[in-house]
Amino acid sequence: MADAAAAAAAAAELARSFRLSDPPADFVDDPSATWAALREHHPVHELAPNSVLLTRYDDVLAIYRSPNVSSDKKKEFGPKFGVGTPLYEHHTTSQVFSDPPLHTRLRRILMGAVNQRAIARMEAGVNTMVDALLDRIADEPAPDLIEHFAAQIPVEVIGNLLDVPRSERGPLREWSLATLSALEPAPSEKVLARGQAAVSEFLVYLKDLVARRAAHPGDPEADVLTRLMLGDANGKLGETELLHNCIFLLNAGHETTTNLIGNGSHTLITHRDQLQRLQRDPALIGSAVEELLRYESPIQLNNRLTTAPIQLSTREVPAGTFITLAIGAANRDAAEFADPERLEIARKPNNHLAFGQGAHACSGMNVARMEGRIALGKLFARYPNIDLAAPPERDRRLRFRGFRNLPVRLG
Ligand code: HEM
Repeated sequence: MADAAAAAAAAAELARSFRLSDPPADFVDDPSATWAALREHHPVHELAPNSVLLTRYDDVLAIYRSPNVSSDKKKEFGPKFGVGTPLYEHHTTSQVFSDPPLHTRLRRILMGAVNQRAIARMEAGVNTMVDALLDRIADEPAPDLIEHFAAQIPVEVIGNLLDVPRSERGPLREWSLATLSALEPAPSEKVLARGQAAVSEFLVYLKDLVARRAAHPGDPEADVLTRLMLGDANGKLGETELLHNCIFLLNAGHETTTNLIGNGSHTLITHRDQLQRLQRDPALIGSAVEELLRYESPIQLNNRLTTAPIQLSTREVPAGTFITLAIGAANRDAAEFADPERLEIARKPNNHLAFGQGAHACSGMNVARMEGRIALGKLFARYPNIDLAAPPERDRRLRFRGFRNLPVRLG
């Protein structure tokens, strides 16, 4: 009894004192105890005046679905990046951080390029590429599943989507990592400087690519760059909108999908019962990918700004409140998921929030799912006894959940 009371008091204190800018030392390795404490004791947790963190599934969903929120980040990113800087211009022009009418337009143009027909066209190429990557690691004593496998797949898929010549894809991953790392809750000066430089270099490269594509347009059914350049019934996008949304697209599908494949591999390797179940019944791969997205969500945090008062589970927040949505916490909420801390690859229903929800729900979710199914399905069919070769190193960032490396023995 006394132990239970002491544990409850410790959890309440963990929740009360939680700061995203300085989380507990073990938070990145395993945030589940902190998320549980916040869900129970401080579901609408004040991070700063006018800024709250939400961890309950219903609260996170209510914000995603509310008409009274904005994704525009000018207020937040002015002080963070400096108005007019490359990072400011990029992150305030991209689809994910815009509101209607720009958002509606960008989303409509893009969605046509990532529909089921387009995805079916990509599938054969992804199968061939994954087989080739699995061949290539066969003779390595301890291949790194991130570097040699997980990171290779999305760079090809997104590169193909925009038809970036293969020989020019080298710097894309670094630019993407640098641009997105600047979104961390408390980026260092070095991270910010790298992000500013990455956006500038990306812009120089893309201007040239756009000029070449204007001279030799592609098929707008298959080539998203040509599609974005053509615009829609309302006319063409401005140059700034066009270039920054190409950068955004190249970034959006990279690291997230790398982390789906990396986290998914690690989770299955360390949950052998579920891995063996998948190996006995490969048809479970679809629901396994959904469960891996829930269990180790590649994006952990999203943000919104309220434009009118919104009632949440424990209180109302006024207009002008900065909201941080803890996707990882919502995806482990027992109010929505039975036995949420357990990995269950056949889980149904599984309405996880790994791709967000509502007006900004991930446009590329079915591309990511297809990559995840093919990569994980083939990896564990080809190397059924795969195991860790050394402890993997986690990426310490809070917004993205993944590994820097994942050395394995193929067995
Ligand atoms: C496992 C991989 C992925 C995850 C976990 C993921 C997650 C997300 C999330 C959570 C959002 C919502 C952001 C918000 O509401 O503020 C989002 C938006 C978006 N994602 Fe993904 N994503 C993934 C892969 C991809 C891929 C492969 C593409 C492109 C082919 C893509 C393109 C986009 C776009 C364009 C948006 C902006 C949608 C909008 O604002 O209307 N994503 N993604």
